[in-house]
Amino acid sequence: MIIVMDFGSQYTHLIARRIREFQVYSQILFPDITLDELKEIHVEGIIFSGGPASIYEEGAPTIRRDVWEYILEKRIPILGICYGLHLLATLFGGKVLTGKKKEYGVADVEILGKEEIFSGLDSHESVWMSHGDSVVVISHELSIIASSENCPITAFRHTQRDIYGLQWHPEVRHTVHGRKILENFIFNVCHAKPTWRISDFIDESVKRIESEVGKGKAVIALSGGVDSSVACVLAHRALHDNLYAIFVDHGLLRKNEAEKVRNIFSRMGINLAIIDASRQFLGRLEGITDPEEKRKVVGEEFIRVFEREAARLHAQFLIQGTIYPDVIESGTSRHSQTIKSHHNVGGLPASISLKIVEPLRELYKDEVRVVGRNLGLPPEIIDQHPFPGPGLSVRIIGEITEEKIRICREASAIVEEELEREGISTWQAFAVVLDERVVGVVGDQRKFGRIVALRIVESEDAMTANFVKLPWDILERISTRITNELPEVVSVAYFVSNKPPQTIEPC
Ligand code: XMP
Repeated sequence: MIIVMDFGSQYTHLIARRIREFQVYSQILFPDITLDELKEIHVEGIIFSGGPASIYEEGAPTIRRDVWEYILEKRIPILGICYGLHLLATLFGGKVLTGKKKEYGVADVEILGKEEIFSGLDSHESVWMSHGDSVVVISHELSIIASSENCPITAFRHTQRDIYGLQWHPEVRHTVHGRKILENFIFNVCHAKPTWRISDFIDESVKRIESEVGKGKAVIALSGGVDSSVACVLAHRALHDNLYAIFVDHGLLRKNEAEKVRNIFSRMGINLAIIDASRQFLGRLEGITDPEEKRKVVGEEFIRVFEREAARLHAQFLIQGTIYPDVIESGTSRHSQTIKSHHNVGGLPASISLKIVEPLRELYKDEVRVVGRNLGLPPEIIDQHPFPGPGLSVRIIGEITEEKIRICREASAIVEEELEREGISTWQAFAVVLDERVVGVVGDQRKFGRIVALRIVESEDAMTANFVKLPWDILERISTRITNELPEVVSVAYFVSNKPPQTIEPC
């Protein structure tokens, strides 16, 4: 495997991602890895990631001396990127300075000579830079292999060893031949073989769960979303009847969701408890209008119900569907900055006295989907729209009432049905129930009725999103069906705002 030492860059996960795209297994490890831990791994190459620290600042991350000596002794190839380059330069006795000008964005670099790592590149390359510090002096063992106007030592290599450093980020798409550089490093320098398959992941992961849980009992909070579903089926392969899936129906689910989960997972022979706690949730939500307060209540209540059920089962382990972006987003990467705390139904607090097992924590969403398909999960699970942990509560403005839940649920089902009929697939598509009313006329009667607003968006990763420019006739059909089938509704609106500024969910 190729290991990526994480010095805290937001791009670290992209490096591992790109390497796996070449079917070479890659794992992210922390630089404080001990020599014994490293010796356990069959390492074909190491990438030192970038990071926010400045190399001479107090607490700047580095690797242990004995680990460094072992890497040199074993002649393991290294590629240092940005901070990784600064670290390599200083480990060989060079010097790094904080430049007067920070460099963020696309830059032109000149490739000097014909290095294996630059095979197939042009003499001038367009690359993505993101740094404040620069290497200003290198030891005589290193030689400069690329240069730019702003940064003369923009890449170097060791003259006797397979050790390279780049100031720019090959893992970022803006570096035109970044993929090629990584490919060259993996195959020409490390001589890795493209043998990693998702089926290997499944086998290894099943073995890992077996050895972690042993003869113990495990529970999983199954939401029916992609991540918890895949984690559940994977854990079931390892634990069989010692796995108990708990599905909490908080009364804020999509149409037919509980039945769907029951059908699919019971058919797979998984122990499944569907807990109808809707009265309890809706009771606690009564009178609450503040969106954050609603989320808090649903989160707390969920934990209460789940803890009660887990205690009844005397389980010692909790399987969680945490995936790699959740790990990154919650700042678990030790040297990176926290962006936001992830709020998930699966995100139970550590205070729950169960040992946590996270079989998907190294996978990206599309890899999770591939694993799920390989495990035999149907498209209704794998290809479904993301659905937030707090459910329909974040799609109802103002107080949550049974009437509003019903409207939200039915109108959303109409939206999904109509889009499916047209063969239009989107990132998310649902209805929001507003708190205000408008005057309508039905028959000859005046009616002060409800407003439903549609949120239909395209996105790649939910960080940004664009509203879908649907043809008017489709919108009209959706609107007509909603007002016909839900007599309380007299008006249908469409959110024509992107994210940012509007988020995907309205609350
Ligand atoms: P926003 O509304 O922040 O949402 O643009 C981005 C994506 O995340 C989903 N989302 C959540 N998922 N728990 C979740 O598991 C939550 O509390 C939550 N809030 C938002 C949202 O549906 C969208 O895909």
